[in-house]
Amino acid sequence: MEFAPQASIDHAALRHNLRLARQAADTSRIWAVIKADGYGHGLFRVVEALDEADGFAVARLDEALALRQQGVVKPLLVLSACISRSDFEQAIYADLQVVVHHQGQLDVLQSLSSTGQRLSVWLKLDSGMHRLGFTPGELNHSLAQLKALPVVGDINLLSHLANGDDPDDPMTATQCEQLMQIDPSPYSARSLANSAGLLANPATRFDWVRPGIMLYGASPFINTTAAELGLQPVMTLSSRVMAVKSCQAGDAIGYGGSYVCPEAMPVAVVAIGYGDGYPRHAPNGTPVLVNGVRLPLVGRVSMDMLCVDARALSGIEVGDEAVLWGGELPVEEIARQAGTIAYELLCGVKRRVRFHDLNRQQLEV
Ligand SMILES: Cc1ncc(COP(=O)(O)O)c(C=O)c1O
Repeated sequence: MEFAPQASIDHAALRHNLRLARQAADTSRIWAVIKADGYGHGLFRVVEALDEADGFAVARLDEALALRQQGVVKPLLVLSACISRSDFEQAIYADLQVVVHHQGQLDVLQSLSSTGQRLSVWLKLDSGMHRLGFTPGELNHSLAQLKALPVVGDINLLSHLANGDDPDDPMTATQCEQLMQIDPSPYSARSLANSAGLLANPATRFDWVRPGIMLYGASPFINTTAAELGLQPVMTLSSRVMAVKSCQAGDAIGYGGSYVCPEAMPVAVVAIGYGDGYPRHAPNGTPVLVNGVRLPLVGRVSMDMLCVDARALSGIEVGDEAVLWGGELPVEEIARQAGTIAYELLCGVKRRVRFHDLNRQQLEV
């Protein structure tokens, strides 16, 4: 029996979620956002499962280069970190598309001599997030610089939503309006929507949408569950009960003794901890699904293990399966308990967890 924590990645769920994105996108094309190792699911396996996407978007140059080296021929977009001269040279060589959001990048592009290959760029508009991008007032100057460069091919326009997770927040409409006010004629394509924009606000779709979190089966919204959206969870993080203790009333559990047993009770120890990516800040009461029964976490999460109150599960035994998230236990619920977001939990699963593929499509031979 395997006692090491496992992460099962369901390819059929990835494909299903992409189909939902495709329906919502209508005629817009889809950049499947697979940065941060496919939101923690594994870069290459998500590329394989999301084969129907029109292109893949990553944050860093290295991620895009790794995909090209692996033989991925689809369009690849580097969203943020193509900065130095060597970055741009490699991007041109590997036929990547890059986001240009800063004058320093334009300066580097100006210093490059043309090699015959041209770079498709996405000029980033800061439509209100105030993180990356040119303000509406700066945009035309940046555009003029790009148009003058022989090394630059297509010029596209892109912006990013700041508050899409709350569909009632007027910021999304304001950002959409900002993008619509820019004369589209110099641009080959425009892109704004992340998962939240795509699902809640058709006006944000433009030519390319950029869904990330919804592909992994988690809700992009604060008040709507993934199940309500028809999304299927992709990752199931599980482990096993490695010990069952009979504790007495007054026994304090784990480091700091933050949970004190109110009566004599069984406490099960599960072989997973923050060293595997389970959030250390998950409080007492966070649910863990053991043999399909929700048991509350008790005491502090340790590096390699955590404890649950096993009173609700008679006959709990060493070796019983414990699901930390996935299936009937949405990762968003655990994230909320731990004061974080599903994105962070999914990206945070550590390399020592064993990854398995489920429902991998048989490739034609
Ligand atoms: C520029 C950009 N576009 C799209 C996305 C995808 O967002 P989401 O995962 O919320 O769909 C991200 C993710 O952070 C991003 O940084």
